Amino acid sequence: MASTDKISSIFPERGGIPAEYLPSFPIIQKEYLVNGEIRAWNGEMQEVLSPICLNTGAGLEQQVIGRYPLFTGKEALEALDAAVAAYDSGRGRWPTLPVEERIRCLEKFTFMMKEERNEIVNLLMWEIGKTHADSAKEFDRTIEYISFTIDALKELDRAGSRFEIKDGIIGQIRRAPLGVVLCMGPFNYPLNETFTTLIPALLMGNTVIFKPPKIGVLLHRPLLRAFRDAFPAGVVNTIYGDGAKVVGPLMESGKIDVLAFIGSSRVADIIKKQHPKPHRLRSVLGLEAKNAGIVLRDADIDPTVKECVTGALSFNGQRCTALKIIFVHKDIVVEFLKKLNQRIASLAPGMPWDEGVGLTPLPEPDKTEHMKRYIEDAKEQGAMVVNEKGGAINRTFMFPAVLYPVNNRMKIYHEEQFGPVIPVVPYDRIEEPLDYVVNSNYGQQVAVFGNDPDAIARLIDPLVNQVCRVNINSQCQRGPDTFPFTGRKDSAEGTLSVTDALRVFTIRTLVAAKETDQNKRIITEIIREKKSNFLSTDFIF
Ligand code: G3H
Repeated sequence: MASTDKISSIFPERGGIPAEYLPSFPIIQKEYLVNGEIRAWNGEMQEVLSPICLNTGAGLEQQVIGRYPLFTGKEALEALDAAVAAYDSGRGRWPTLPVEERIRCLEKFTFMMKEERNEIVNLLMWEIGKTHADSAKEFDRTIEYISFTIDALKELDRAGSRFEIKDGIIGQIRRAPLGVVLCMGPFNYPLNETFTTLIPALLMGNTVIFKPPKIGVLLHRPLLRAFRDAFPAGVVNTIYGDGAKVVGPLMESGKIDVLAFIGSSRVADIIKKQHPKPHRLRSVLGLEAKNAGIVLRDADIDPTVKECVTGALSFNGQRCTALKIIFVHKDIVVEFLKKLNQRIASLAPGMPWDEGVGLTPLPEPDKTEHMKRYIEDAKEQGAMVVNEKGGAINRTFMFPAVLYPVNNRMKIYHEEQFGPVIPVVPYDRIEEPLDYVVNSNYGQQVAVFGNDPDAIARLIDPLVNQVCRVNINSQCQRGPDTFPFTGRKDSAEGTLSVTDALRVFTIRTLVAAKETDQNKRIITEIIREKKSNFLSTDFIF
């Protein structure tokens, strides 16, 4: 049970932190990677504040854990020049390297990355407040994603290693890279979600400029050497700093071919508009969502509550896939709320490294204030916080608040809270939650909880044309990573999964020839003497 005492004494003294989880702060990151060199930065720096406060005796102090470079447009454009030169209009070493060799580079990178596991997991805890278990999971899931991606590429390459003959035309069809990719990931999965675009983009022969999210920068530092040593010069380049200053010049240059961005639709729109020829820009976007839970009258309350709590509160609700509003049939809402509150009360607030911790401090500046404003607004419109300690704040920590009864006059009904507030809406007719999904600006996923196959089937058909994944008696989530992950409306552009990602960073390209003796002779000679990497029947095992 989360007592007020536990919340008010949540932050430790320095001496109370286990030594293995206490890196030597501050970490001053001066290094950045451009054109195959790790260079030293001497300009302005950004201070990195951990969401974790330390009890100093003289009060609580938010821990300063380091600094990172704040580039200007000049350094961003140097990174761009390096990426453009490495791609060299598709004639560079990397885009023309045989697939097998690109895979070898990535395997070398992965080997070096694994050696940095402890440090990266530690920094995930300190920079974004993710629990040790989830930080380790984020790291391991990323390694697994890389390995799945390599397997998927082998499969794709095998499919492309054959000729098709149709209507007297011989053709070999493969997927070719697009050019320079700008990769930007989010703070909530700074490693995993960045890598789910960066790795496939690289592996398919593109060159990359990689900007870590504003929060979650230092954890990428241990990988700079691995990027430098595993890939040819200019293939991976890093930039840091204020998006408006560094991303604007990149986009305005017109030399970014693919924008891979996970963040808000507002920022995505600004960035896309900066490109002088938008039709040349391919965008792969993972944006905000407001996934609804719909609890039917016959739902099994205990397992439903369990899924709803995990769905709404894993990583304190800071997941794009989180359940951000729950519609509950009015006949069972009282029972549902009772069990929901009991389960939330059993979540342990604490530090990311604490055994069994379920709730941790929030990394975004003023986040608890932002959550409080949603709660105040809902209260003014007639809702109440119905769980014990709901909304209790201690600096960067907030105990989850269950708001009930929520209605469409409240901000939290429409906006993505991305934090530990659970709005519960009672409904009578199933059209109410259905209309909510139809009228929402977002279209990522929904979760339907119930027992009757007929009732669930009646929801599946309208819902699959509104969102991109309907979960039955299960929370919303991205995984498994081989499943397609996307959204409609303001929630996404393009589809990601292990195999889809290989497609979005490439374009189908073919070599074709009329089936004449002359052409057959030319093609045979090119293949037999391995004169081309593209026109080839080599098979990767
Ligand atoms: O923040 C959005 C993530 O893609 C969600 O992934 O469902 O695996 O937590 P997850």
